Amino acid sequence: MPDTIDAQVLTQVAGQPVVELAARFGTPLYVYDAAVIARRIADLAAFEVIRFAQKACSTLAVLDLVRRHGVVVDAVSAGEIQRALAAGFQAGFDEPPQIVYTADIFDREALELVAAKQIPVNCGSPDMIDQYGERCPGRGITLRINPGFGHGHSQKTNTGGQQSKHGIWHTQLGQCVERARKFELSIAGLHMHIGSGTDLEHLSQVCGAMERAALAVGPSVHTISAGGGLPTPYREGDKRVDVAAYFELWEGVRRRLSEAFGHKVSLELEPGRYLVAESGSLIAEIRAVKRMGDNLFYVLDAGFNNLARPILYGAYHPMAVAYADGMGGPERRSGDKQPVVVGGPLCESGDIFTQEDGGYVRSRDLPAAQVGDFVVIGVAGAYGAVMGSNYNSKPLAAEVLVEDGQAHLVRRRQSFEDVIRGETIPK
Ligand code: LLP
Repeated sequence: MPDTIDAQVLTQVAGQPVVELAARFGTPLYVYDAAVIARRIADLAAFEVIRFAQKACSTLAVLDLVRRHGVVVDAVSAGEIQRALAAGFQAGFDEPPQIVYTADIFDREALELVAAKQIPVNCGSPDMIDQYGERCPGRGITLRINPGFGHGHSQKTNTGGQQSKHGIWHTQLGQCVERARKFELSIAGLHMHIGSGTDLEHLSQVCGAMERAALAVGPSVHTISAGGGLPTPYREGDKRVDVAAYFELWEGVRRRLSEAFGHKVSLELEPGRYLVAESGSLIAEIRAVKRMGDNLFYVLDAGFNNLARPILYGAYHPMAVAYADGMGGPERRSGDKQPVVVGGPLCESGDIFTQEDGGYVRSRDLPAAQVGDFVVIGVAGAYGAVMGSNYNSKPLAAEVLVEDGQAHLVRRRQSFEDVIRGETIPK
């Protein structure tokens, strides 16, 4: 297997023939390779607690898989709490808690649920402290701090600094500790997440900010969370982040705080993308091949209703071709490549997978292909299916998890009845 599937001819995804997957489950189809998720979890083993940011891929079978590998989970909504419970995570205040609610607000449903089910909360606004304190006085909470800087792969995924709505502004930490005291809430931990798809240089700046904030709060702090944000290689030449170096930086902070407080401080990491991105592929069928002036288009049966990252962020995903006859031999591998623009079926010109930030359409060199062949879009496991929509009344795609050589349908394709469920025409 090459390092990247980009511009290759593929015959298999996760060890399964693409043609068979498509025939059995239809397209568009998300396929997750359990072995890849297990490998990414193992990379992070030095971290005492790995808390999966399920927003990246919250399909129940994926949650169950990470749970079986000893990973705990983060939830950002009442729905994500319910998902975690449905996948077998337990509610409660054990150390480490299996489910933590992290958000900048409580909607009324979430506040009721964390109170009723005993879900620990990580407060991202002073108002959350008041609302939780009134509802659940005397519990322990953690605070999500915005350290005043942030960084992400796109301005839209930068969650620090004053243009971000996330977290408690770092200079208000003291006031928030006071606020919590009114309700006898103890500050049991601190959390910082500066953005998604950032880099080691920016991530390491968080260490110093965390150490200062924890010392300011004092020995009630028993946990620190480094948040998520670890980047994933998408393009040829993208380097995998040096996890060992990152761990050492945080381990130093953890050790110094433990010494300063005279008790153990534990360290959490909260990755989303890193654990699941590379495990996922989106298989789509080419339904039209057409020339528009200088551009040749492959028009697929998958669009931004299935994978929104290109239209939202100009995100780059590697793409390969799988032939309908299942062939990939040497003659095919070296086959002609041609510059193509890859688009989807939606009635919107932005429905292009090969675009850059700002909506600029680009072509990509891909193997020559025809209607009926498949395009495999790689590194699509994070923020792929979860950001799917019913735009143009398209059903959400089916999802398959491949584990131990078996392909399991873990979400069936929506039916038309699913798409219109809950709608009524007034009589
Ligand atoms: N923790 C918190 C509090 C977060 O807000 C996030 C991501 C994570 C952890 C996980 O970040 P990760 O390890 O995945 O970088 N839809 C965008 C990404 C949005 C991320 C939102 N928060 C994308 O497709 O790139």
